Amino acid sequence: MSHAASRYDFRDKAADYARLAQELRALLAGESDLIANAANSAALLFEVLPEVNWAGFYFLKAGELLVGPFQGKPACVRIALGKGVCGTAALQRRTLVVPDVHEFPGHIACDAASRAEIVVPVMAGDALLGVLDIDSPRVGRFDAADARGLEALVALFAHSIRGGSERAAHA
Ligand code: SME
Repeated sequence: MSHAASRYDFRDKAADYARLAQELRALLAGESDLIANAANSAALLFEVLPEVNWAGFYFLKAGELLVGPFQGKPACVRIALGKGVCGTAALQRRTLVVPDVHEFPGHIACDAASRAEIVVPVMAGDALLGVLDIDSPRVGRFDAADARGLEALVALFAHSIRGGSERAAHA
């Protein structure tokens, strides 16, 4: 399948995230594999989001977060729940917007260029699957509009996986 990303400038974040949601929905349509959909989701986000130097997933495995598909520099492999921005968002099951990672106690620096970070939990019903993590080299890069937009994208991603497991259970 060929895929050409549209252009987004995110001057109207709500509108552009809504368009991006349509694009992600089309990209994931008909596929329910976790790795495949995580890989394409990370690639799309890294391609279209401005001022981003890392975008990808950590998935919960044996009680800790394990790095999954991502775009950016090689990253820390395992993060304990409650540690760093990712582990904290996962433990609290809520989106964390960190304007300046240097001000976040316990931040785990994977790429020294990262200055702002947003982490969105990936939930399947009540179960935590993992987190989406996005880093930016610009302090204050992410705000509440990014949180809302990315939460909607993560819900689409989680649904693509959950739908797949429901289908598999009934196959
Ligand atoms: N900064 C994250 C670690 C993951 S990397 O940014 C890819 C954290 O504090 O959890």
